[in-house]
Amino acid sequence: MRSSDEPVLTARSLCKTFRGHLSMGRTQVLRGLDLTVYPGEIYGFIGANGAGKTTTIKILAGLIHASAGEFRLLGYDGADPRSRRGLGFLPENPNFPGYLSGREFLDFQARLVGLDRDRRRRDVDRLLDEVGMAGRADTPLRKCSKGMMQRLGIAQALLGDPVLLILDEPMSGLDPAGRRDLRDLILAQPARGTTVFFSSHILSDAEVLCDRVGILREGRLALEGSLDTILGPGAAAWDVTATRAGGLAAGTGTTAISRQDDRVLFRVEGEAALANLLDRLRAAGAGLHSVTPRRLTLEERFLDLEEQGARERHEERAP
Ligand SMILES: Nc1ncnc2c1ncn2[C@@H]1O[C@H](COP(=O)(O)OP(=O)(O)OP(=O)(O)O)[C@@H](O)[C@H]1O
Ligand SMILES: [Mg+2]
Repeated sequence: MRSSDEPVLTARSLCKTFRGHLSMGRTQVLRGLDLTVYPGEIYGFIGANGAGKTTTIKILAGLIHASAGEFRLLGYDGADPRSRRGLGFLPENPNFPGYLSGREFLDFQARLVGLDRDRRRRDVDRLLDEVGMAGRADTPLRKCSKGMMQRLGIAQALLGDPVLLILDEPMSGLDPAGRRDLRDLILAQPARGTTVFFSSHILSDAEVLCDRVGILREGRLALEGSLDTILGPGAAAWDVTATRAGGLAAGTGTTAISRQDDRVLFRVEGEAALANLLDRLRAAGAGLHSVTPRRLTLEERFLDLEEQGARERHEERAP
């Protein structure tokens, strides 16, 4: 990714308000969302249930209209149908015609994408194989499990070698092998010239896959950047296990998490506290068993943000 490249996706000040019956009960889901995704990136769009990920993706896919704001895809205004040429899309709950087999369904989709017969045969077979459905290609979709449907949905999104792949919760319903296959498939995309934008709340997957993540909260990106930016470049904390340290007290920035006989596990925040604990262990004649850096996980960062949001809302209500 080079930030000088023209982005493949930009959204500016996107707003979406759902109105209830007779304009009663409004749900303001997006409140000025900005997004920029550059060519060759794998971008993870993260947010709690109901944060508005699917709403955003439906707007980008042209399935619903934004209440305000604008977006561009692949060099065209989002209102221009050409913006969706070169787009591969996996909806949140793919539900495809039950009377077709997986192979027939993919062949049908490939016709819509405009692939000729030879290419259809080649690409459909390759994609069935890549999503682990080659052995079940002739099962009618009504007999497919959720995970099998999801795999076919991913295959159809990849038909025609899209320039931009937008996937709504691609890991949903997949078993461990399916998740591993999909991770490999997503990681292979930039080398094929495909940029990937996907939503997820499986944060460990986002952590493994993404060049950048954006965290959607209260209708905007609460945080965006590379994992190094969001989680910090190095360790912020360490787990220290010491022997013959039963009598040693925890100190500033140091918490004793577990004690077993004379073995203690300390969690230490910050380099100063680490140096202080190591000095005290040495002075007490304790043995050092292990010092393990603990990097903040995306999940912890995400939960921090959510808790911070809940605290702020509580303070607003009770000033
Ligand atoms: N058609 C609709 N009419 C009214 N409200 C809607 C509609 N679609 C979505 N919403 C509301 O918009 C909010 C965001 O929903 P959305 O499906 O975009 O969330 P999400 O981030 O995709 O959540 P999840 O992780 O559960 O998939 C929710 O409060 C939801 O109830
Ligand atoms: Mg959703």
